[in-house]
Amino acid sequence: MTNKFIHLPPTEGEYQLSHYEGTRDVFSWESVHAQFSWNKTGKVNMAYECIDRHVDDGYGDKTALIYIEGTKREELTFHELKKRTDQLAALLKSRGVKKGDRVFVFLTKHPDCYVAVLASIKIGAIVGPLFEAFMEEAIYDRMYDCEASVLITNSELLERVPVNKLPHLKSIYITDESEDESLLSIPKLTSNDTEIADVIEWVDLNDGMIIHYTSGSTGKPKGVLHAHRVMVQQYQTGKWVLDLRDDDIYWCTAHPGWVTGSSYGIFAPWLNRATIVVHGGRFAAEEWFDVIEQAGVTVWYSAPTAFRLLMDKTELVKNYNLSSLRHILSVGEPLNPEVITWGVETLNLRIHDTWWMTETGGQLIVNLPSQTIKPGSMGRPLPGIQAAIIDHQGNELKRGELGLLAIKKGWPSMMKEIWKNEEKYHSYFIHDWYLSGDLAYMDEEGYVFFQGRDDDMINSSGERIGPFEVESKLIEHPAVLEAAVIGKPDPVRGEIVKAFIVLVGGYTDNPKLKKEIQTFVRYKLSAHSMPREIEVLDELPKTQISGKILRRELKRKEIEKLVVN
Ligand code: PRX
Repeated sequence: MTNKFIHLPPTEGEYQLSHYEGTRDVFSWESVHAQFSWNKTGKVNMAYECIDRHVDDGYGDKTALIYIEGTKREELTFHELKKRTDQLAALLKSRGVKKGDRVFVFLTKHPDCYVAVLASIKIGAIVGPLFEAFMEEAIYDRMYDCEASVLITNSELLERVPVNKLPHLKSIYITDESEDESLLSIPKLTSNDTEIADVIEWVDLNDGMIIHYTSGSTGKPKGVLHAHRVMVQQYQTGKWVLDLRDDDIYWCTAHPGWVTGSSYGIFAPWLNRATIVVHGGRFAAEEWFDVIEQAGVTVWYSAPTAFRLLMDKTELVKNYNLSSLRHILSVGEPLNPEVITWGVETLNLRIHDTWWMTETGGQLIVNLPSQTIKPGSMGRPLPGIQAAIIDHQGNELKRGELGLLAIKKGWPSMMKEIWKNEEKYHSYFIHDWYLSGDLAYMDEEGYVFFQGRDDDMINSSGERIGPFEVESKLIEHPAVLEAAVIGKPDPVRGEIVKAFIVLVGGYTDNPKLKKEIQTFVRYKLSAHSMPREIEVLDELPKTQISGKILRRELKRKEIEKLVVN
């Protein structure tokens, strides 16, 4: 297979990281350990390495976070961040929250969310950040499965949490105030507050730290648990891939409820002492360009759907000064070559694709700044990462052959476990290989080209959606007898969720009913899981023997229709 797009070598002025290329064969992850204090003390805590350490090293006055939402703007220094996380950590600890407890954080993209995540980690708890757009059942599934005992939220979002159905939930902390005396308000920090000592719970590298629920093609979302050791990879990729330096203003657009928003929205930048930008609110092209200009963003990590939406508003670019931008990265879904061309033509910068997954905790296949970009490829495995294309028996395939993208076990940010589901965890491996579920091929130079999924998982706007979860919700609607859900190719979102349904006798296909079914999924589950298209069928295609619904058949037909049109 050949790539018809022009290769883009590093541009002049782009940081030459070519010495990293030289380390490819000799690099070991152990060599990174020397960067951390636990290398000497044996005691570890991610929150210490992200915040307190910088204060100890004399960077307390450095801006850690710039928050922008509409006309609101707030800044926090590393010292303020330390005080706020210490205070909340002490409060949680004083009320008996301890190492290993599951603390869920349900907040919008706001400094409170970042403080809550790190305060929970500080006391050794396992934090479960929830995406701000989740609705009742998505929240319930995750908190129930994880037996969460603590929730940190605000009084508005709390309305979506089915607290009475969560038997393990013992206490709820809110960042604002409420009349309800059963809720614990987190006090605001004042300048009179003194330093709190010894609040950190020192743990082992392999102790659990953060859990993200993620969808597959079957069953409910699974809890992917990561340990404190992820810091080794997140620190190093923050240097190599994000190319973070001390004066950087870094903006990762993902919410901490998704792995990109935690691994690269919190940990990687703060392990590298960068200033992060937190933008509250929804996507709007004008606002996004304004954030870059206002905050002086230098390094920007986002997703192809967002770039495509911005591409649609190219005429706005001239109204903003975006000259602070130095390095742009992308993740989550295929980065189409047109977007890379747009970046070069409009922003005069190459967009660097990165590939990884919730389960992998950190980037694995990337375009380093020093590397030639081959549009259409996700890049090459990092030094220290061995990737291969294998068949279902675990045999390595030749260069250029299409197969399963697999990674040799043993990188530091690999998930620790799937929460209470050992069988699922083991299903990811064949021999020494971790199976991503992605289909790809690799060229002679080791560049990997993503070709799709090997299963029915849907990727819409970079968000992973399990068809089963949506189908289960659809059949709860009284009008729906059966449902099959697929990802339909879409020029902006990569894929959209499309549902095929069979109606219960007595109901007839009409736009009002479809709208009602959409709203049902949207408000029960979440907006991004809502089928943007619904088609009513008389029956669904099924296997003859087991009667299993053939989603692939529906998808094949859908793609055929697109090609014909
Ligand atoms: O199919 C791949 C796709 O997103 C999946 C992982 O999704 P998630 O766990 O939600 O993590 C997203 C962010 C780390 C992968 O199995 N994916 C991720 N990055 C890329 C991608 N597909 C194509 N190109 C990418 N760069």
